[in-house]
Amino acid sequence: MKQKIMSGMRPTGKLHLGHYLGVIDNWVKLQDEYDCYFSVADWHALTTKYDKTDDLRKDTLDVVMDWLACGIDPNKATIYVQSLVPETAELHIYLSMITPQNWVERDPTLKDMAKILKSKEGMASQINYGLMGYPVLMTADILTFNADLVPVGIDQVAHVELTRDIVRRFNNIYNTDFFKEPQPKLNKCSLICGLDGNKMGKSFHNDIKISDTAEDTAKKVMTAITDRSRIKKDDKGHPDECEVAFKYWTIFGSEEEINTTRCECENATRGCAQCKRMLGEKINEHLKEIRERRTYYEQHPEEVERIIKEGSEKARVEAQKVLAEVRKLVKMY
Ligand code: TRP
Ligand code: SF4
Repeated sequence: MKQKIMSGMRPTGKLHLGHYLGVIDNWVKLQDEYDCYFSVADWHALTTKYDKTDDLRKDTLDVVMDWLACGIDPNKATIYVQSLVPETAELHIYLSMITPQNWVERDPTLKDMAKILKSKEGMASQINYGLMGYPVLMTADILTFNADLVPVGIDQVAHVELTRDIVRRFNNIYNTDFFKEPQPKLNKCSLICGLDGNKMGKSFHNDIKISDTAEDTAKKVMTAITDRSRIKKDDKGHPDECEVAFKYWTIFGSEEEINTTRCECENATRGCAQCKRMLGEKINEHLKEIRERRTYYEQHPEEVERIIKEGSEKARVEAQKVLAEVRKLVKMY
């Protein structure tokens, strides 16, 4: 039997190249070998945006469209929406009963989120009960399928560690070995920075979206940071100090293209503007098929809705099996 993989993303709307190269591309590779469940974590979105839900549905659709465009295949992997699998909420209740409060309080990601929230909202100590439960809810996501592996970025590893702690405690309390201790599976993908050299992020306005047009992408790439010491075109360039543009070349270019770029830059036979024009074309070439697929799904939203509905039903069937066992173990009525 194939090992099970579970992972998720919050519905943040249209995704960018950081999501594609850092997470989704990895999922695409895993879907052939593993039994995969990929969730749009709309309850997790509520932990911080409970009062801004107008776009939740649209943002969820956008995320799924980007996944499909990048090559997640609903015939291989199960794509679902968290809130359409209410078994996870029930499991969250059982898990919340056995999770010591200080386990969630020491969660580093949660501490960071609380800090950001405070600075944004100016709320002194307003952390809701639901936000405190963020890592327990994520544990419930993973255990809803009794997953073996959780492919995540480094920022989520602490959450998976907590999941393992909760599994041990559950198994110990209910005298069982039912739940497996899931392993984090770090994404072996290229980390792409934003156009300004900082972490790529929607709110930093330094991102290239999967769904951007080729023209927009070309324009954005022209703003990428280069070797700051190279002022005039005939100054010799230093690719290794070219903070963004050359890094992008190493991600999107072939070995030969990378070498040529390095050479022409160092010999000042290629200017930065020309270099970034070529780079923009390269990136667009890479994204062409993905964007064509995305356009197709944008024009067929009913197909995306059907994929979500069918995936969520399929996920529920598996979730119900796990929950039946959990109810028995906890000795519920
Ligand atoms: N917390 C994850 C994030 O912010 C998203 C997520 C929700 C998740 N449920 C999950 C990731 C289950 C892995 C497994 O990126
Ligand atoms: Fe960077 Fe290209 Fe300019 Fe060299 S020529 S500094 S690699 S943008």
